[in-house]
Amino acid sequence: MNRRPDLTQPESSENTQVLARVDLPIAEATGLPNQHYVSHRSFEMDRDHVIAPHWACIGFIDQLPEPNYVHPINFMGLPILLTRSSEDEYRVFHNVCSHRGMQLVDVPGSNNGAVKCPYHSWTYGLDGKLKATPNIGGYGIHTHCDFDNRENGLREIRSTVWLGALFVNLSDDAAEFETYADSILGSWSRLLKPESLENFQLSENESVVTLTVKSNWKLAVENYLESYHLPSVHPELNKVSPLDQHYYLEMCSNSSGQGSLNYSRIDINGKQLPTIAEWAQDKINLAEYPVLYPNTFLGVHADQLFIQYLQPIDQHTTVEHVRIFYVGEGATKEEFKPHRQQIRDSWKSVFEEDIFAVERMQAGRASPAFTGGAFSPVMDAPTHHFHKWVAQKLAKAVE
Ligand code: FES
Ligand SMILES: [Fe+2]
Repeated sequence: MNRRPDLTQPESSENTQVLARVDLPIAEATGLPNQHYVSHRSFEMDRDHVIAPHWACIGFIDQLPEPNYVHPINFMGLPILLTRSSEDEYRVFHNVCSHRGMQLVDVPGSNNGAVKCPYHSWTYGLDGKLKATPNIGGYGIHTHCDFDNRENGLREIRSTVWLGALFVNLSDDAAEFETYADSILGSWSRLLKPESLENFQLSENESVVTLTVKSNWKLAVENYLESYHLPSVHPELNKVSPLDQHYYLEMCSNSSGQGSLNYSRIDINGKQLPTIAEWAQDKINLAEYPVLYPNTFLGVHADQLFIQYLQPIDQHTTVEHVRIFYVGEGATKEEFKPHRQQIRDSWKSVFEEDIFAVERMQAGRASPAFTGGAFSPVMDAPTHHFHKWVAQKLAKAVE
């Protein structure tokens, strides 16, 4: 019987050639072609070969507002459980029962330090240990000689907390997070001391933005990386922070992005938000917007830092989660509420302005006339860097 060809997937040798074309010098290169944005198989390839071997952001610790709390999430189709123990330890597990594989938790909430599976009541501690297996050996018999609880705990995912964000390394073999993030932290050292990052505080009510975009996660990354679209997509922002005041950041092994020389701190009734003490006055209007590949967007300014992470739901749906942090506890007080509100509203408008752009790029990827497109040799340099980064991971996977 003839196998029906999968039109969304080129043959492997063709795929290797396509990926090699992405890796060419920017003036000759093409971008990733359509199937990398529209096919479910490519989405899973992204998860397993582009995202899993690195550090991906998957949440914020404010989603676990008290000890003994659990928060389920879907990350690229994987059921995952964020947990906070009675000792305020944050851990991440696969959200699946070791018995018959039921998804354990489906709504966030507090508990008494244990997660009980609703199917046969096997119960796990927030350290992942399997604590109770009722009736496993027959009615009223809760153990069995052939069953070892120690081998049937929850499967933990390597995780770390940085600046109130939770990062995971799904493949469990990446370098330490600090080493991974050094591409960005090293460059920030000319602006602020590493320990000053600890000063950034979240003020919850005015700091949260969540947006759903009907596009592949990579298009959201590509859009964030470049300032080329500023005059067309963000005309108001372009008036205060125009394109010619932007520059591209140094491209590192796992990050790139852009910066602005013209970030203006807001002034309300003669008052401005506190700034990082050592941030030099001659750089006070400088702001940098790197992406820590694969899915973490950062925005650092003298008076605020935001983290935006992408939660890819499927190949054409992505949720963007933003938190904005301010300098010192004083900045989270009532007197600065109008500042925080204004900053949050203006970032929200900017991010909303980008939605039509990424959604219509996704729509364009239904066209057979588009085969990866071209790059501006100057303006699209970070976008090309990201394409190459993805293509190199995928090429390794199909080798
Ligand atoms: S599937 Fe969880 S206890 Fe049976
Ligand atoms: Fe934008």
